[in-house]
Amino acid sequence: MRVLSVASEAYPLIKTGGLADVVGALPAALADQDVATTTLLPGYPALAPTMAAGCAIHEWPDLFGTEARLIEAGLDGHPLLILDAPALFDRDGGPYGDATGRDWDDNWRRFAALARAAADIADGAVKGHRFDILHAHDWQAGLAPAYVRALGAPVKTVMTVHNIAFQGRFDLSLFPALGLPDWMASIHGVEYYDGISYLKAGLQAADAITTVSPTYAREIRDPAFGMGLEGLIASRAADVSGIVNGIDPAVWNPATDAALPAPYTADTLADRAANRAAVDDRFGLAPGDGPIFTVVSRLTWQKGMDVLAAILDDLVAAGGRLALLGSGDRPLEAAFLAAADRHPGRIGVRIGYDENLSHLLQGGADAILIPSRFEPCGLTQLYGLAYGCVPVVARTGGLADTVVDANEAALAAGVATGIVHDGVTPDALLHAIRRAIALHAQPDAWKRLQTNGMNADFSWRESGRRYARLYHDLMEPA
Ligand code: ADP
Ligand code: GLC
Repeated sequence: MRVLSVASEAYPLIKTGGLADVVGALPAALADQDVATTTLLPGYPALAPTMAAGCAIHEWPDLFGTEARLIEAGLDGHPLLILDAPALFDRDGGPYGDATGRDWDDNWRRFAALARAAADIADGAVKGHRFDILHAHDWQAGLAPAYVRALGAPVKTVMTVHNIAFQGRFDLSLFPALGLPDWMASIHGVEYYDGISYLKAGLQAADAITTVSPTYAREIRDPAFGMGLEGLIASRAADVSGIVNGIDPAVWNPATDAALPAPYTADTLADRAANRAAVDDRFGLAPGDGPIFTVVSRLTWQKGMDVLAAILDDLVAAGGRLALLGSGDRPLEAAFLAAADRHPGRIGVRIGYDENLSHLLQGGADAILIPSRFEPCGLTQLYGLAYGCVPVVARTGGLADTVVDANEAALAAGVATGIVHDGVTPDALLHAIRRAIALHAQPDAWKRLQTNGMNADFSWRESGRRYARLYHDLMEPA
């Protein structure tokens, strides 16, 4: 089974969020299931060294008005294809916008080019590269299944929704430039509320749809979560499944993590103290008895960060401390910085993106707060579980599927792994934080929470199997 996985990010080459972790981990996860995965990425500047080490195997003289080449390279020993189109991708800033965070005006063209290249490859344009499945991730790859259909390319397609809130919406006047058949300008193609949506195009055209947890797969049939696409998701319910993300043990393992001053296992949890001291140090926290909560997150409404910002004085008054690493909405960044000013030694804030520091926080803080209003899967709670950094999460999406609340029954049965709250309100979050502080004051109970999480299986094994089964079912329908 040969799969072409198409995405706009893959760790460790280019990452803005969990999508990159998943796309980067899938090739190894699927190799265990005898699925050979080739990843296709845009040629951003961050990929220049990888491109330089690869070789050109195909050219498009005119891909949406520009020359493009396909570079064959490698990603941790797995095949990687890079779409080298300097006019589209070789620019400073992030994968989607400039350094100030403003989206590029021509994102419609950049990601149409990625999708069109993917479909051409799937259609056999590149000698020696044949695929059975094209697997498109999120809106940036959303047009790929539509192009596959338009070309009649001999592959089955899978569209994975990592976050239905990001839909790739553009003006309908751009439709002729996409080179899709006229009928696709309709509601049965890419048209969406008088515009174009790349994600909608993928959801409409793909043979199968997945999302990244079973609960989110159900939630997005509901208007409260479907963001306008709930009708389409519901109409395709028979083709929709939820497959929870795993974690890549080569990157996230407290026993081997080079970012930790003191690596440890569930049997050597006491060694964590040195990491905790390093967190105190890096975030200017005064030593104390209460737990250190952490946040490693985009600072956005989705993540419930406004609600957290509103109760920080109460968190401190209850005996907690906070070490926060994140970036995002300016007013939220300002609110957290102001809280750090109000509570020196109790709240430390780093605005920015720092992969190593994110590892240190998971390996040194006591609990990670994830009060998301919606969360397709969420990875930081999985990293928290693996690192004995107890997750305190809202009951939604993948958070609900992966964290077992420390209620009395779960504690007694020895299966509790974290704290789960219903609703993202100041009261609910503060109540959850107080429960965490109370449990943390009982060292044996806390240690059981930590070890239950660390011993749970969040590997890719079962999810890799489920993707492989889905691919096989598409190839040989019952
Ligand atoms: P999302 O993709 O919605 O942002 P996930 O929980 O799936 O949420 O994944 C977020 C990923 O990005 C995780 O790997 C997390 O550690 C990482 N991350 C988020 N913010 C930061 C940051 N400021 N610095 C370093 N890593 C971050
Ligand atoms: C998206 C979601 C997040 C998920 C990630 C990887 O960024 O917001 O919940 O974990 O994709 O699938």
